[in-house]
Amino acid sequence: MIPYEIIEKKQNGHQLSKDEIQVMVRGFTDGTIPDYQISAWLMAIYFQGFSTEETAVLVDTMLHSGERIDLSELTGYKADKHSTGGVGDKVSLILGPLVAAAGVQIPMISGRGLGHTGGTLDKLESIPNFTTDYTIDKFKQQVADIGLCIMSQNNNIVPADKKMYALRDVTATVKSIPLICGSIMSKKIAEGIDGLVLDVKTGRGAFISEYEQTKELAQKLVAIGREFDLDVRAIITDMNQPLGSEIGNWNEVVESIDCLKGNGPDNLMEVTMELSVAMVVMAGKAGTDEEAKGILREKIENGQALEKFYEFVEAQQGDVDSVQNLEKYPKSKYIEEIRSPEEGIVQEIDSYKLGMTSVQLGAGRLQMGDELDPKAGISLRQKVGDSVKSNEALATIMTEKEDVLERAKSSVLEAFSLGEGQVTPPTMIHESISSY
Ligand code: URA
Repeated sequence: MIPYEIIEKKQNGHQLSKDEIQVMVRGFTDGTIPDYQISAWLMAIYFQGFSTEETAVLVDTMLHSGERIDLSELTGYKADKHSTGGVGDKVSLILGPLVAAAGVQIPMISGRGLGHTGGTLDKLESIPNFTTDYTIDKFKQQVADIGLCIMSQNNNIVPADKKMYALRDVTATVKSIPLICGSIMSKKIAEGIDGLVLDVKTGRGAFISEYEQTKELAQKLVAIGREFDLDVRAIITDMNQPLGSEIGNWNEVVESIDCLKGNGPDNLMEVTMELSVAMVVMAGKAGTDEEAKGILREKIENGQALEKFYEFVEAQQGDVDSVQNLEKYPKSKYIEEIRSPEEGIVQEIDSYKLGMTSVQLGAGRLQMGDELDPKAGISLRQKVGDSVKSNEALATIMTEKEDVLERAKSSVLEAFSLGEGQVTPPTMIHESISSY
């Protein structure tokens, strides 16, 4: 079958064969099928879905588009964590050094910003000179040396996802359970890890916002892990307001450093600890969650987690001085406060709207290949449940783009819903599903 017919078959809601899925993924990866046909195919999948069998073929084909890393020469448990994507979700930047400081080896392949959500690679690359472009040998060596490496996909590791991810980002085809499963699980299985903790986001700022669908995604991710002999624990966490107070690449690096110094905001630290504890227990470094929590708290209090972060930045050629002396980082041309026109209690913060606004400000891509502004972003001054006076600051925005300022200001204002009723902040951890 030719790509046109395969697109049409899915568009009409029919199940695709293994060969047909392979034709599309392989053809896109080797450049023989153009972006516009794959975009149409992705959109057909978005609307018509994929069965469990089609999803399994997608994962397998994407996985085999490159090499599968063999980490068997590294002794000890190798674990990773991956998020389905959120706003202000800088957990990997904190959890990576924290869990590595607790003795777990973390080989992590991460992604860039996707849709309204930020990406770990973009955040790390806001550190001057930081590199995520690794060969497999160098990746393994760094995990052996310091217990942590975060690299990007390249032409050797799941190149199919590297290309599809970039295309989904700009064609509004991210919010699809099978496409998310293919993207995440192909990368994670390729890493050669023993265990994986998944942060499956639910709520307004998540790609899959409805709880029942989020649970379906979590169950599917776990089932794929089981099929590929990977221990997977999926933890469903809340994305009804941004995680922490900072959105934007450099802003999020700064907030992650605060967390490693023991000064992190509650909602961000709660999610980070929950996922970190799961990894530490999975790796056998603690017998119970309580014990793991104790170990991790100690690593923050005694400064070892922060030291591990500096060591990691140095190993990835980042400028350690800039993460140790944060005030030296360049400032945005436009830094504007958004003030509340009325008094009230913050009922909701629309994280999707804030995520999209941060993209407009320059923190994410509107088109494939767009250059990011590492300083662009939003600092939130209020969270759900806070009382706000009239004219009090709700948030600050940072950008180099004068032409987006006014629109961004009104979007941020619209993202805050104020009312009179007392509200309790959202529960952060909903439930957990394991493959083992
Ligand atoms: N993270 C990924 O790596 N892929 C997705 O599709 C969504 C989140």
